[in-house]
Amino acid sequence: MESTTKPTTYTAFEKDVIAGLKDHPKHISSKFIYDKKGDELFQEIMAMPEYYLTDCEYNILKNQSADIAEKFNLKEGFDLIELGAGDGKKTKLLLNHLSQIEANFTYLPVDISQNALDKLGTALKNELSEVDFELLQGSYFDVLNQLYSYNKRQKVILVLGSNIGNLMHKDAIDFLKKIQKNMSSEDLLFMGFDQKKHPQTVLDAYNDPSGITEAFNKNLLKRINSELGANFNLDAFFHWETYDPETGTAKSFLVSKTAQEVRIKKLNLEVSFKAWETIHTEISQKYDDDTVEWLASKANLSIDRVFESENGFYKNYTFKKLKS
Ligand code: AVI
Repeated sequence: MESTTKPTTYTAFEKDVIAGLKDHPKHISSKFIYDKKGDELFQEIMAMPEYYLTDCEYNILKNQSADIAEKFNLKEGFDLIELGAGDGKKTKLLLNHLSQIEANFTYLPVDISQNALDKLGTALKNELSEVDFELLQGSYFDVLNQLYSYNKRQKVILVLGSNIGNLMHKDAIDFLKKIQKNMSSEDLLFMGFDQKKHPQTVLDAYNDPSGITEAFNKNLLKRINSELGANFNLDAFFHWETYDPETGTAKSFLVSKTAQEVRIKKLNLEVSFKAWETIHTEISQKYDDDTVEWLASKANLSIDRVFESENGFYKNYTFKKLKS
């Protein structure tokens, strides 16, 4: 009898680990940092004094909510769709203002984590009971493909936290294009972009002395150990951050302290590291107006207005679809 070998199907995480650890230089995508522990560590990062991004955007939304809301179609109403809503801490400031002015809108927070959405739903019921909302569970990608169905009134799409900065320019343009494709001429995209600034300020934000960012970065290795049966020794690697003030790109690495072999049982993979060999794990891009304008134009979008934090560290932009 002929034996048939079933083709192995890999998850997105497994595929990324195989391709990334076989490549030279090695890499693994930062999107896989975010399991339950990764989410918790990111919450801790956002509360760190060095991680200025969260406070800056919080202040923009706190102090400029009225100006931001003026951009929305308050007369006929709108759908406020937030990609990657998380705990909604910053968005609640805007929701609070919108509810005070009795705006007619529905808030549609989108998140990959049902747990995060459930918590947000409870908080909204308790704190902002008059806000009409609908929770949408899924990846950005799933939801981007459904966005077109929200077409009865203006769509305002929120992407906060400089999340776009974790994408290389090419991927950022693709992401903006996907959003643009689902926008009508009246719709608005509201997005946060961390700005270029003193290089030391950027490095400090990704290099905290308490080691939270290090644990966040190493969560990738922890996940490979627990989910893919690997034997990474976390102490044999350290977190390293670089920032190139010319390109505005901050990069996170895990550096191998010694020559070592790692076995990933589930993938039947042996990985060798030389001493000082790196795994590139994350980029956190910093921008200026010209770069944002360039990215937008590549996606057939144009900057409509800019909202800047008091220290100039961070900006939120509104974008409209360019007429094609
Ligand atoms: C989610 N993202 C925008 C964060 C950033 O700033 O790149 C993730 C992060 N990585 C290290 N610290 C925070």
